[in-house]
Amino acid sequence: MSLNKPAPWSPASWRGRPALQLPDYPDPAALARVEEELAGRPPLVFAGEARRLKRQLAEVAAGRSFLLQGGDCAESFKEFSADNVRDTFRVLLQMAVVLTFAASKPVVKVGRIAGQFAKPRSADIETRGEVSLPSYRGDSINGMEFDIAARTPDPQRLVRAYDQAASALNLLRAFASGGFADLHNVHQWTLESIKDSPAAERYAATAERISEALAFMRACGVTPDAAPSLQGVDFYTSHEALHLPFEQALTRRDSATGGWYATSAHMVWIGERTRQLDGAHVEFARGVANPVGLKCGPAMAPDELLRLIDALNPANEPGRLVLIARMGADRVGERLPALARAVTREGKAVVWSSDPMHGNTMKAGNGYKTRDFDRILKELEGFMGALRAEGAYPGGVHFEMTGRDVTECVGGAHAVTEADLSSRYHTHCDPRLNASQALDMAFRIAEALKAARKGAEAAA
Ligand code: PEP
Ligand code: CO
Repeated sequence: MSLNKPAPWSPASWRGRPALQLPDYPDPAALARVEEELAGRPPLVFAGEARRLKRQLAEVAAGRSFLLQGGDCAESFKEFSADNVRDTFRVLLQMAVVLTFAASKPVVKVGRIAGQFAKPRSADIETRGEVSLPSYRGDSINGMEFDIAARTPDPQRLVRAYDQAASALNLLRAFASGGFADLHNVHQWTLESIKDSPAAERYAATAERISEALAFMRACGVTPDAAPSLQGVDFYTSHEALHLPFEQALTRRDSATGGWYATSAHMVWIGERTRQLDGAHVEFARGVANPVGLKCGPAMAPDELLRLIDALNPANEPGRLVLIARMGADRVGERLPALARAVTREGKAVVWSSDPMHGNTMKAGNGYKTRDFDRILKELEGFMGALRAEGAYPGGVHFEMTGRDVTECVGGAHAVTEADLSSRYHTHCDPRLNASQALDMAFRIAEALKAARKGAEAAA
């Protein structure tokens, strides 16, 4: 027996490890009752779907596809509506079309949606004047209002989060396969609210070229019946697996393979604050067979990353692990190369994705937490450059974004200024790209992908 053989895993084995960022419930028995209730509820996603996503991510790891992941920083109960789900979905569809067209590669679409509720916080307590209360940790845990009733963690919120996730997923499944996402509707995905923006004008031109290509293909006999993949899309859900009691309750054994799956989402990730090798979150994630993400911040050392990779993907299965670099625009060029070099040297099959949001949060002059479009873009370019220089494939992007016309991030073609931030600042946590900023960003990435494709073709 190897000395390094890990201890047996079970959906509850994380309980033997230090667990950061979990709320303190005043009534643990009430939490236990909710966990039992959730354990009796149907799974939100199916193991076979998570396996299909893993196969598609294996194509990304091999450099043949590209990953687009995005959605709210934190979903909320208040902002939940069919329109909001649809609008986030349609902007992701538009971004995916732009990227597919530029890269000539399939784009794997994963939402931060239908379960992205629980948030890690830098402080457990928030103080305003004389009053100190538990920090807001996301709608599945407590309320944002600054009073003791709202801020006290309430386990019933987990049931409401489950219900909202189920209803969002139902809608997303309908949008993905019920006709809305048919490529022949490519012109109709543009939101009314952004139709005069520069990004929407550019999108209309791309959509026109796609429509012409579809008409040409139809004339050649490639009808929608002959190519069903034009009639809908695969769309997957993801969130940070932060609230481990909730995740455990939804972890089920798959009857077909005998493996354990997190059925709260197709993909889950481990956040920058909870990625300790001996911690509860890594312990939980190592035992579920879903694709798993791992946030990699600027403090991560190469040997630390390699140990985490061994813990999370001991069989080196492609598509299992997505490394999500979130370094900051000024640090990515300095910190990422050593990580990429170590991963490549050890022959680890991973997807490298860039989260250019979380390392670039700043305070505007008027106190709003914001992010600058140009800094986000700068990190993306630094990410692509650093990986290519190490012979690795920059395989994906991870955004906090919304289909709504919010003013939370500054810059972009339809520039939002610091003075605009107060007008439509709705996020429950971090600032998101709005619909036109997100589409604009997709065009910028598309230009980089196209340049890389042309370079590769010229070299071949
Ligand atoms: C997040 O993705 O919302 C998040 C908290 O990211 P990170 O763990 O990278 O800070
Ligand atoms: Co965030």
